[in-house]
Amino acid sequence: AQVAKDSARNPQFNYEESKVPTFTLPDPLKMADGRSVSSKQDWINGRRDELVEVFRREVYGRRPTTEYHVDFQVLAETDDVFEGKATGRDMQAIVTIGEREFKFPFTVFIPNAVTEPGPVIVFINNRRPDTVQSVIEEEASTGAKRTIIDRGYAIATFHTSDVDPDRKDGYADGIRAFFANGQPLQNDDWGGLSAWGWAASRVLDYMVAQPEIDSSRTAVGGHSRSGKTALWAAAEDPRFSIAYSNDSGCGGAAISRRRFGETVGRITSVFPHWFCENFTAYSEREDQLPVDQHELLALIAPRAVYVASADLDLWADPKGEYASVVAAAPVYQLLGEEVITDPEMPPLNTPRHIGKTGYHIRSGAHMISETDWKMFLDFAAGQWSR
Ligand code: GCU
Repeated sequence: AQVAKDSARNPQFNYEESKVPTFTLPDPLKMADGRSVSSKQDWINGRRDELVEVFRREVYGRRPTTEYHVDFQVLAETDDVFEGKATGRDMQAIVTIGEREFKFPFTVFIPNAVTEPGPVIVFINNRRPDTVQSVIEEEASTGAKRTIIDRGYAIATFHTSDVDPDRKDGYADGIRAFFANGQPLQNDDWGGLSAWGWAASRVLDYMVAQPEIDSSRTAVGGHSRSGKTALWAAAEDPRFSIAYSNDSGCGGAAISRRRFGETVGRITSVFPHWFCENFTAYSEREDQLPVDQHELLALIAPRAVYVASADLDLWADPKGEYASVVAAAPVYQLLGEEVITDPEMPPLNTPRHIGKTGYHIRSGAHMISETDWKMFLDFAAGQWSR
């Protein structure tokens, strides 16, 4: 439905493989000055820093360096969620700069049956805000959070708009304006996706301070715009041991140069608040981008990354999402990790997990379904097994 809707509304967008332009992907293992990156040390102490800086400057924007303080407040707690299997907490993060305060809510579920510190998934939510009560009511129909708890993992979620409003004109009410003390943004200042990713890191700050949580087993995940966010959150914060992007598409896992489905021009005009201003300059000029999205996945190396697509979600370009996973492989291999390298996509509904990367394409529409969760959680279990 999403594809039909978008292509009908935007007939100028390409959904035909034969019309994908020819292009050369930037080589993640080549420094900007042309030198080859041939050792782990070259990557860790040189190329990675260079690349993350280009993504900040040209795509997602730079986070502020202003000093801040963050406190966490428990607003409500109940220890009998999901028939006593979990403790739920409605939380509030209080960010302070000098005398000024910015608050955003988040929700936490921790399994009650833990005998030793376990994993946590930080889930970036852009649909309906979660509270302990709303999740209890909703679980009867979907069950995703319960499934996570049943596996012995904790989950923490927050809503994107509570951190930075997901609107073109929402800047004044968000964390970015709070940091800038109301001043306008510079062309390379953080966009909304980066602000949401920053919030995922603050939620992680709280979670890893809990005795039930093992700070070495942490994931950040999201669907669609939040899937884009999850990848960038993991690139910026090395404490996340797995990043999960579901149907993230343009500005997420999909190769921008393919110009299949959503393009840089379309995303920066409809959602200009997601990226830094500089990204807009690559509208219809994807070939001029100094990076492409396979290098975003490479920034997560040697940590794990899981990419999921849906076959009807052509707007998000499943082929381009898979191509990124494969094109990130040389960086993982340089770091001594085994990963997916097969250029052929796996069959529908058949996850491929090889070492630190995983991928599936589910049949159906643009959404995060039970099936997506199950396949991702199987991948996570493999990464987190002892
Ligand atoms: C729109 C947008 C996508 C985004 C999606 C979503 O379709 O064009 O880039 O991923 O919304 O967040 O559901």
